[in-house]
Amino acid sequence: MASTVILGATGTIGTALARRLVADGGNVLLAGRNEAKLSALAVELNQPFVEIDFSTSRAVEDALQTQFERCGGYAGLANCIGSLLLKPAHSTTDDEFREVIETNLFTAFAAVRAAGKLFRERGGSIVLFASAAAELGIQNHEAIAAAKGGVIGLARSAAATYAPYNLRVNVICPGLVRTQLTQRIWESTAAAKNSADLHALGRLGDPAHVASLAAWLLDPANDWITGQAIGLDGGLSRVQPRRKSAT
Ligand SMILES: NC(=O)c1ccc[n+]([C@@H]2O[C@H](COP(=O)([O-])OP(=O)(O)OC[C@H]3O[C@@H](n4cnc5c(N)ncnc54)[C@H](OP(=O)(O)O)[C@@H]3O)[C@@H](O)[C@H]2O)c1
Repeated sequence: MASTVILGATGTIGTALARRLVADGGNVLLAGRNEAKLSALAVELNQPFVEIDFSTSRAVEDALQTQFERCGGYAGLANCIGSLLLKPAHSTTDDEFREVIETNLFTAFAAVRAAGKLFRERGGSIVLFASAAAELGIQNHEAIAAAKGGVIGLARSAAATYAPYNLRVNVICPGLVRTQLTQRIWESTAAAKNSADLHALGRLGDPAHVASLAAWLLDPANDWITGQAIGLDGGLSRVQPRRKSAT
C-alpha cells in the first residue's frame, strides 16, 4: 500500500480519494490551503494534515519529505487541485487566464518537481488531473483546456524522465463529475441533463469513480502503467453521444 500525499485533499475528489485510501489501509498526508477544512478531515480520517501555500513548489517538497519520514514505503502523490473557468477566449482576462494556469498547471508542475527530487530513490506513483476538455474541443473551455493540455504534456515528459527510477506518472481526464467545482451545472436540472446527454453513457460521473481509478494508479501492485492520460468520462472524449437506444 502506498503512503500518499494528497494535494487539494479538501476538494470533493481529493476527499473521496483520501477516504478510499484510508479505507484500504493506507497512510495519507492531507495537504490543502484551508486549515479548518483540513483539520475536520484529519479528525474524520485520523490522518495528519498540512496547510500549504501553493504559490511556491517548496512547500510541496516539504510535505513529501514529511510523509516520507513518517511512513516510508512506496510513495504516492495525487494533485487534486483545480479550478474551472467557462468563458470564450475573447472575454477571458489576462488575470483570469494566469489564475487558471497557476491553479491547474503550476500546481501539477510543483507536484512533479517535488516528487522528481524526493521519490527517485524509492520509486512511486504520481497522479495528476487534466480534463476531457483537453482531449476534445468544448465551447468556452479555452483557458482550462490550455492548462489541462499542459498537464498531459508535463506528465508524458516526466513519465519518460522518471521511468528509469520506477516513478510512474499518469493523468486522469474526467468528464463532468458531480463535485463542488461543477455544482452550478449539476444542481440545475436542465443543465445537468444537457451535460449528461453529451456523455455517451448518458449520466454524470461520481467522485467515487475518480477515487477508484486514482487509488488503482497509486497502488504499487499496478506498476506497469505510466505516461497515460486516461479518459474517465462516460465516453465524452471518444464516443458520440447516443441519440436513442440501439435496436
Ligand atoms: N469535477 C469535474 O467535473 C472535473 C472535470 C475535469 C477535471 N476535474 C479536475 O479534477 C480535480 C479535482 O477537482 P474537484 O472536482 O474535486 O474540484 P473541487 O471539489 O472544487 O476541489 C478543488 C480543490 O482545489 C483546491 N484549490 C482550488 N484553487 C486553489 C488554489 N488557488 N490554491 C490551492 N488550492 C486550490 C480547492 O481547495 P479548497 O478545498 O480550499 O477550496 C480544492 O481542494 C481538479 O484538478 C479538477 O480540475 C474535475
